[in-house]
Amino acid sequence: MTDPILVLDHVTKRFGPVTVIDDVTIPVTPGRVRVLLGENGAGKSTLIKMMAGIYQPDGGRILVDGKEVTIADTKAAEALGIATIHQELNLAPNMSVAENIMLGRTPSRGGIFNKKATFDAARRALDMIGLDVDPATPVGKLGVAKQQLVEIAKALSQDARLLILDEPTASLTKPEITALFRVMEDLRGKNVAMVFISHHLDEIAQIGDDISVLRDGQLVGELPAATEEPELVRLMVGRSIDKQYPRVASSPGEVLLEVDGLTRAGAFSDVSFKVRAGEVLGVAGLVGAGRTEVLRAIAGADKYDSGSVRVGGKPLPQGYLDAAIKAGVGLVPEDRKAQGLVLGASVNENIGYATLTSTATWGLADLAGQRKRGTETAQRLRVRMASMDQPIRNLSGGNQQKVVFGRWLMANTKILLLDEPTRGVDVGAKVEIYELINSITERGGAVVMVSSELPEVLGMSDRILVMSAGKVAGELPAQGATQDDVMTLAVRNNRIALKEQDLQAYDHQENR
Ligand SMILES: Nc1ncnc2c1ncn2[C@@H]1O[C@H](COP(=O)(O)OP(=O)(O)OP(=O)(O)O)[C@@H](O)[C@H]1O
Ligand SMILES: [Mg+2]
Repeated sequence: MTDPILVLDHVTKRFGPVTVIDDVTIPVTPGRVRVLLGENGAGKSTLIKMMAGIYQPDGGRILVDGKEVTIADTKAAEALGIATIHQELNLAPNMSVAENIMLGRTPSRGGIFNKKATFDAARRALDMIGLDVDPATPVGKLGVAKQQLVEIAKALSQDARLLILDEPTASLTKPEITALFRVMEDLRGKNVAMVFISHHLDEIAQIGDDISVLRDGQLVGELPAATEEPELVRLMVGRSIDKQYPRVASSPGEVLLEVDGLTRAGAFSDVSFKVRAGEVLGVAGLVGAGRTEVLRAIAGADKYDSGSVRVGGKPLPQGYLDAAIKAGVGLVPEDRKAQGLVLGASVNENIGYATLTSTATWGLADLAGQRKRGTETAQRLRVRMASMDQPIRNLSGGNQQKVVFGRWLMANTKILLLDEPTRGVDVGAKVEIYELINSITERGGAVVMVSSELPEVLGMSDRILVMSAGKVAGELPAQGATQDDVMTLAVRNNRIALKEQDLQAYDHQENR
């Protein structure tokens, strides 16, 4: 066995009175992929932040090449050959792709920024991961998936000895994940050590070597990556999960949402569908198919050129979030950090955001009631937090997602629009979210769920709408449908159209 490059040796980390990492030891070895597995809030990101120089341990030691070190900041980590892809995107939106990739390392000649060398180096990094974007594009114009690929390219360009990947696949699609894994295999061959975090157990079996399982900040097991999934789930969640997709179909009632001929140039065209009370409509398609754009248009977040949206038979005016909320339409967005949450505010404020005005009497906000209902909702979703007053920023990624979800639950939303609702959510909490979807349809609500996870679409929808290049390619009953059926429709409209539409969507984002 080769000596580890880095060891977190009996480390402990506290935030105020709360111990979030308790006496954990993790070795990271050249040429091997160490997987950190655990529920949302178990402490995975906190551990890797100690390797990356963002946090310092309160107890224990960090060894690099067998010697105790202090990794004082991110620069120090870089100097030790440690590169990190963080869970939340850390790019500068106004800077170009190339500048982001080369940030802090831009080549210069005679003290002058060498644009060509910077772009060439960036291009090489982008090629490694197979990302076809112009290095001059401002990062903020790219969608979440492409931004994630830029982050990965940035880390790869550092030629690190230790590469840390915190949920790099969360917003990627199958082909992109395959490309990433190919790069990781290659790095493994070059003896690079890797730390990998994912909530997708199949990915862990595919790319991992050794697994450290965490529960509530403690190490509860060290296993080979080939361990059977049920065994892993039991270790991380502390119980077994017998039904991953617990959809209980209710009989559909009256039409709650009717979208007719919805069109916005360059994003989607002639999109029509109906959703009835008690139904879950799954929306499948490739990244760039226009699914997010359609949801945002329905929710009043963006305008559209033509077509109409009716809720309970009444037309919904376009472009007004407030009007949509009032009509009982809620959106859990794809990018919770940019669109869903007020990061500086507390859990309580974030979860109560949609109901603050509707529960007010004579213009006075019902803060006490609000807090009580918020606390109940958070408990129901098992949001892991120190208190309702904790800033949302300090919650783990998956727990932030639960809060956005909880906001609409609390608002008794009639029509819930979900965009990748379980992204970054652990296996146990996923089931909890699915149960909530069931409870919404049971009480007569309707759910539209955009998801890139086909098993989730197949397992939790009643009907599936497939979009391709901005258009509805077809509709299937979920019962009896296969992944192949969905994919065949998803790629129906040609690829060229897809690319063109992608570009126009970026232009649109800029104008927003
Ligand atoms: N700066 C902070 N201040 C206070 N508490 C924090 C801070 N950062 C993290 N925590 C807490 O530490 C715990 C572990 O969080 P961490 O982000 O490491 O979880 P995780 O395992 O990465 O979860 P996820 O799968 O959701 O990403 C959580 O309970 C979180 O609320
Ligand atoms: Mg995390």
